[in-house]
Amino acid sequence: MKPSDALLPGGQSPGTVEAAASMPDYGALEIPARDQGTAVSRAEAEFMYALVARLKPKATLEVGMGYGASAAFIISAARATQYTQYTHFAMDPMQSDYHDLGLRNVAKLGLDGFMRFMPEYSHVALPKLCVEGVKVDFAFIDGGHRFDDIFLDFYYAELLLNEGGHILLHDAWMRSTQTVASWVRKNKANFEQVPIPMKNLILFRKRGVDDRAWNHFRGFGTWKSLASHSWNTLKRRLRAASGR
Ligand SMILES: C[S@@+](CC[C@H](N)C(=O)[O-])C[C@H]1O[C@@H](n2cnc3c(N)ncnc32)[C@H](O)[C@@H]1O
Repeated sequence: MKPSDALLPGGQSPGTVEAAASMPDYGALEIPARDQGTAVSRAEAEFMYALVARLKPKATLEVGMGYGASAAFIISAARATQYTQYTHFAMDPMQSDYHDLGLRNVAKLGLDGFMRFMPEYSHVALPKLCVEGVKVDFAFIDGGHRFDDIFLDFYYAELLLNEGGHILLHDAWMRSTQTVASWVRKNKANFEQVPIPMKNLILFRKRGVDDRAWNHFRGFGTWKSLASHSWNTLKRRLRAASGR
């Protein structure tokens, strides 16, 4: 695989794609001020819009709908380029804890008709989609943030992903996310990491079938994000302690 093959179709970084008129206004999404850090940021949402618009997926998937920021930008980008049947599969067992704002934000934009929402944990919803024979071209993983949550989501997302499809991981600052990414890089030769200009996102492209031997295993521990993870965790604890 040549390095140039790792670029997106068209050879451009997704960040360079012009924002289309159908891109939602991030500021119009209802996200409580105290919880802004839970949703993807405006820069991340706009990057995802550009990425999905370039990939032109027929079906997309996301784990962890939260405030619906990611869903709004994924669906509107896919709709801007796909006029045939398109479905976004979204799951979140705790949408009511978010006052259904994810569902409401997507509905307010008139995008709910393109979404199948599953109010379940991903370890329940993703196997169901596998049994149904669902296939997607793009998956965004932003649900549970422990290592095993992300690992499991990646595992099932791969089974649901068409060849040539992409998986995007959020929260690259976390050691759990970094360790899953390291496992992919070291063990999954059928994936390649696509360079992107976003520090908190990691993008992988599925380039073929998984043909590892039955006993294949390569260690995948990483120290890389130890400092940033500890620093961010401390900041969050201090913020929570001060009630902000
Ligand atoms: C960081 S928020 C997602 C934010 C969302 N991407 C956005 O832009 O608004 C994480 C979400 O994942 C959900 N979640 C946590 N564990 C999950 C699991 N095992 N399966 C599915 N969703 C999960 C939480 O309820 C929460 O809404």
